Amino acid sequence: MFPTHFATFLVILVFFPHSFADTTSFVKAGYYYSANEISSSDIKSNLFTHLLCAFAFINSTNYNIFINSSEEHKFSIFTNTVKLQNPSISTILSIYSGGDSSSVFNSMLNQSSYRQSFIDSSIETARKYGFHGIDLCGVLPKKGKELANLATLLREWRIAITSDARNSKKTELVLVMTGYYLKDSDFISYPFESMQKNLDWVHFAAYDYYVPKKDNVTGFHAALYGSYGWENTDSGIKEWRKRGFSSNKLVIGLPYHGYAWTLVQQGEDGVGKPAFGPSVTMDGDMAYKFIKSYIRSFGDGVVSSYNATAVVNYFTVASTTWVNFDDVEAVKEKVSYAKKNGLLGYNVFQVGNDDNWVLSRAAQEVLDEDHHHNRRLLIIVLLTTLTIALLLGIVLCYYYQGTVTTITRLIYKLRIYLSAGEEDLNGNDSDLIVFSYLTLKVATNNFSKENKLGEGGFGVVYKGKLRKGQEIAVKRLSKTSKQGLEEFKNEIALTARLQHVNLVRLLGYCTKKYEKLLIYEYLPNKSLDHFLFDPRKSILLDWRKRVNIIEGVTQGLLYLQEYSNFTIIHRDLKASNVLLDHEMNPKISDFGMARIFGKFDLEANTSKIVGTYGYVPPEYVKKGIYSPKYDVYSFGVLLLQIISGKRTSCYYGTHENMNLLEYAYELWIEDKGVEFFDPSLDDTKSHCKIMRCMQVALLCVQENSADRPSMLEVDSMLKNEGAAVCTPNVPAFSTKKHEDYAYDKGDMSNSGFKFSSINDVTISQMVPR
Ligand SMILES: *[C@@H]1O[C@H](CO)[C@@H](O)[C@H](O)[C@H]1NC(C)=O
Ligand SMILES: *[C@@H]1O[C@H](CO)[C@@H](O)[C@H](O)[C@H]1NC(C)=O
Ligand SMILES: *[C@@H]1O[C@H](CO)[C@@H](O)[C@H](O)[C@H]1NC(C)=O
Ligand SMILES: *[C@@H]1O[C@H](CO)[C@@H](O)[C@H](O)[C@H]1NC(C)=O
Ligand SMILES: *[C@@H]1O[C@H](CO)[C@@H](O)[C@H](O)[C@H]1NC(C)=O
Repeated sequence: MFPTHFATFLVILVFFPHSFADTTSFVKAGYYYSANEISSSDIKSNLFTHLLCAFAFINSTNYNIFINSSEEHKFSIFTNTVKLQNPSISTILSIYSGGDSSSVFNSMLNQSSYRQSFIDSSIETARKYGFHGIDLCGVLPKKGKELANLATLLREWRIAITSDARNSKKTELVLVMTGYYLKDSDFISYPFESMQKNLDWVHFAAYDYYVPKKDNVTGFHAALYGSYGWENTDSGIKEWRKRGFSSNKLVIGLPYHGYAWTLVQQGEDGVGKPAFGPSVTMDGDMAYKFIKSYIRSFGDGVVSSYNATAVVNYFTVASTTWVNFDDVEAVKEKVSYAKKNGLLGYNVFQVGNDDNWVLSRAAQEVLDEDHHHNRRLLIIVLLTTLTIALLLGIVLCYYYQGTVTTITRLIYKLRIYLSAGEEDLNGNDSDLIVFSYLTLKVATNNFSKENKLGEGGFGVVYKGKLRKGQEIAVKRLSKTSKQGLEEFKNEIALTARLQHVNLVRLLGYCTKKYEKLLIYEYLPNKSLDHFLFDPRKSILLDWRKRVNIIEGVTQGLLYLQEYSNFTIIHRDLKASNVLLDHEMNPKISDFGMARIFGKFDLEANTSKIVGTYGYVPPEYVKKGIYSPKYDVYSFGVLLLQIISGKRTSCYYGTHENMNLLEYAYELWIEDKGVEFFDPSLDDTKSHCKIMRCMQVALLCVQENSADRPSMLEVDSMLKNEGAAVCTPNVPAFSTKKHEDYAYDKGDMSNSGFKFSSINDVTISQMVPR
């Protein structure tokens, strides 16, 4: 009996560790400003729990929410994009009502029907784009009737949000708002009671206290502490608390920007010194990353200092420009402050200003330190307990059979918990997560058969589920695999740098002795070959879906060849390397054999022959030469398979003596292309015709690599119905020559004989770039 109780105790320790270390609910939020140069896919979203997409505005005529049409696309993809890296992230739509918009906001506020339009459209807009919440930014403190109306708005808003959740059966939207600094002496205020009740939290805008455009003496714009009379975050937060708002609903703002002032007297720097206004930029505002590069480029030996009393970084350039901002030290101190004072979290303004995620990582580190401290404590407690348990277990197992196995299992689970921290490791510069082997072992249920997704030349791919519920695909390279450490490193380095919706995303990796594992985003629909070559499933892929897949693969290849920073040759494009997401969008996977191709190299030579038979062009098989035309060739083969549903590994034709390419070419030459098509396909409603695809595919698989079109030309031929398409030559690996086909065909003057259009115009001349 005793050991059973003991086991229960252990189970409690192992499975409810948060009663010992509570860091789960801390809010790590950040504003993404859509006009900023970084795109949402560049955000390291695993450094955040919430991301705010800014800004939507209020229409002055009907008080509905609108998103600037030039920005709308960014908003529409935002949630899905940031979820790729961090599936548990929440996104929030931010509505701006400050500056020019404040008069619109105020006239909305005092009219019940206007408020209703505003509220309804805000919920509708947030839902439409898949956001998990709404933020109201820019509302300054108010007084009198406006103050009361703001209280009413928030109450009505919460009611509407609650009823929306009930009706839509979705999780209730988060409702948050930005609040600003208040002085003890201010008459203006916020409706604290209503805010406390109806909002999930308030972002305290803990910055811009002193700015060079308004103030004619220098000041720290975001000091945490200050001597009497100087506005600072600590006094601001205390004032909010005094007026009745509780700390555990306050989120501290972290500015990722600073201000540059022009000093009146050379060398007279510091706080409270006369200033002529902004320096460096129009309003003196400088993004953190710009500050860092400014110091590097113009600072001429300048180093910034940290004032630990005020918690701020600053520097002076050429005795005339004085800049104050938050560097790593200030950010860390502010996060500690938030933890120590029981605030709910922090909110970054704005993520695009970070310099290589230095500040966000620093903020995260402060929490990790706490976490590790708690974890260490827990480990000590557990180890002691375990030792006792083990001893007891050994003694008691004479009496109670099975106790030893129970304890072994518990020890195993304990190790899992203790190892889980490694999952968050973000050490190297490629931004990849280093997973612990144990984490992956658990996630894949010890690499069980049930979790197996597929098997390639390099090893088996398993489906896995992390502790937080995120699904992953784990590629375990077989120990005997041809992919050596070199290819492994190559794949990691390459894939980490490639980010495109039509490329599978690498999340991280793991190495342990002889084990090498790659962790990818999990795609629920497996790979294209599962559909194409299975008669029951291929019906699910109608022509519209196949066109979408063709377009996606084209875009992925275009990115690799033309739009990424380097030209990449995949070298193993095939149906089983085209994965499909839940909406059947294609993503190219498996970069194990990819090579960076110098932009100016025409072709390169290699001694190792790789690739999959059937997709490999002849110049590679024969001479080991590869160029971007390698992938064009594989693409052509893939295209033929997509339109026919046929494998490359079989022989076709009445005598079953033709490979797929020869068969396709013969039917096409004889004007019988339709016989080649998958009979279930119907292109009558599509702008993209199967016959045209077949012709483009045949161009891609021509023997001579110079004759094959580039991916840009392929894209253009597939998209523009009007674009001219050449007549393909005999495909690679044909046993027959031109003349043979002509002979087979018989009458060369037949109008259906396309082959004779020998005015050999090269494609690049016919297709405008
Ligand atoms: C605002 O609403 C009016 C009336 O519905 C509409 O005509 C106008 O286009 C809207 N403006 C914007 C910027 O959405
Ligand atoms: C829409 O965005 C453009 C470009 O960022 C900007 O110039 C314009 O002022 C914006 N319009 C509104 C109504 O916000
Ligand atoms: C609402 O406020 C606006 C200005 O903020 C004012 O012009 C209007 O008369 C007010 N309407 C009502 C019904 O109080
Ligand atoms: C600074 O601004 C204040 C208020 O705008 C003004 O009264 C004062 O004279 C200014 N001082 C200088 C040195 O310009
Ligand atoms: C740091 O800031 C405080 C408060 O503004 C100021 O009094 C102090 O002189 C500063 N210390 C240094 C070393 O600049």
